[in-house]
Amino acid sequence: VKTIKVNLAQNTYEIRIGTGLLEQVGNRLEALGFKEKVVIITNPTVDGLYGQKLKGSLESAGLEVATLIVPDGEEYKSLEEAGKLYEQLGDFQAERNTPILALGGGVIGDLAGFVAATYLRGVPLVQIPTTLLAQVDSSIGGKVAVNHGKLKNNIGTFYQPRLVVADTDTLRTLPEVEFKNGLAEVIKYGIISDKTIFDAVAEKVPEIEWYYIGVARCAAIKADIVEKDEKDLGLRNILNYGHTVGHAIEIASDYSIKHGQGVAIGMVAAAWISREMGILSQNNLVTIRKTIVGAGLPVTLPDLPLEEILQAMQHDKKKVSGHLRFILPKTIGEVVVNDKVEMGLVEKILKGMYE
Ligand code: NAD
Ligand code: GLY
Repeated sequence: VKTIKVNLAQNTYEIRIGTGLLEQVGNRLEALGFKEKVVIITNPTVDGLYGQKLKGSLESAGLEVATLIVPDGEEYKSLEEAGKLYEQLGDFQAERNTPILALGGGVIGDLAGFVAATYLRGVPLVQIPTTLLAQVDSSIGGKVAVNHGKLKNNIGTFYQPRLVVADTDTLRTLPEVEFKNGLAEVIKYGIISDKTIFDAVAEKVPEIEWYYIGVARCAAIKADIVEKDEKDLGLRNILNYGHTVGHAIEIASDYSIKHGQGVAIGMVAAAWISREMGILSQNNLVTIRKTIVGAGLPVTLPDLPLEEILQAMQHDKKKVSGHLRFILPKTIGEVVVNDKVEMGLVEKILKGMYE
């Protein structure tokens, strides 16, 4: 087991990464002082695969368990589903010290985290990520949110979990397309911070060998960034490399383009903008694009009107004083935050990215 600490004063917690960890969750909760009720929030897919294993571990530790199921899909990361969960928590008589365990990918983590942050003004949250994307990124750092209206993650808060348990065995059942979605965030870590991670993806280190070490290295980068800038006021912005265009594509496609795919296209767009602005070399742009293609991820815009993508971008949370904020690679392993990208340039690049 690899343990990474996220040091945030009284909100400090551990990320535990390794195999066979689902079976140990009951004991970990006991060690954290939880002895009575516990709520699992998950979806039917993940419940079918891992619900019983987790429940068994909790019951062995003497905990009373309720499992609340949300349908599978980004469209259920909504206030409406949160409302249903609040009611079910009430029915179970969940109390201030009843932990919520988010068992699933980033959708479940964000939604269950949002519910944990708001139910009774906050109940303990434990993240149990089961997708590569959630293990390397979304389960760490306390960003919890739902989508509302045409906007993504626009209703939310910062709410740190009490524990993150990333059982890498769960990645073995991940559909290939979801593994690739996770690779998009892994490539992101490579470009923003650590070229050796980028090279490992480029060289196609075998997936299974890579799981344990790769997840831990990405999680450590995120933990370090979150410790330095928990509330996303500066440094943490770099985690949004590829997300300005990526989120806009997700929204404009009504979420038929998934987060990782959007980020992949967005990373190429930002790299291209960076090259045009003289910040990134042509060679590095080509390498970034090639590696993203090699990971089985898209690099061209889907068949959506440019207007809709541009419009979705205008609502971006990363907007500062009316300017869009772009994270631009300087080289592979280093990015800069830039608020001065001309919309004309963004439009020109995106126009050139249709197949
Ligand atoms: P997801 O949660 O939709 O999971 C992808 C699919 O895999 C789902 O169908 C799910 O049921 C299934 N699945 C999950 N675990 C499985 C397993 N072990 N085996 C088989 N199938 C499994 O998608 P995701 O890519 O994990 O997360 C995307 C979401 O995360 C987006 O909503 C995005 O906005 C959010 N996100 C949040 C943060 C953050 O910091 N909070 C960061 C990045 C992304
Ligand atoms: N996924 C972006 C962040 O956690 O800040």
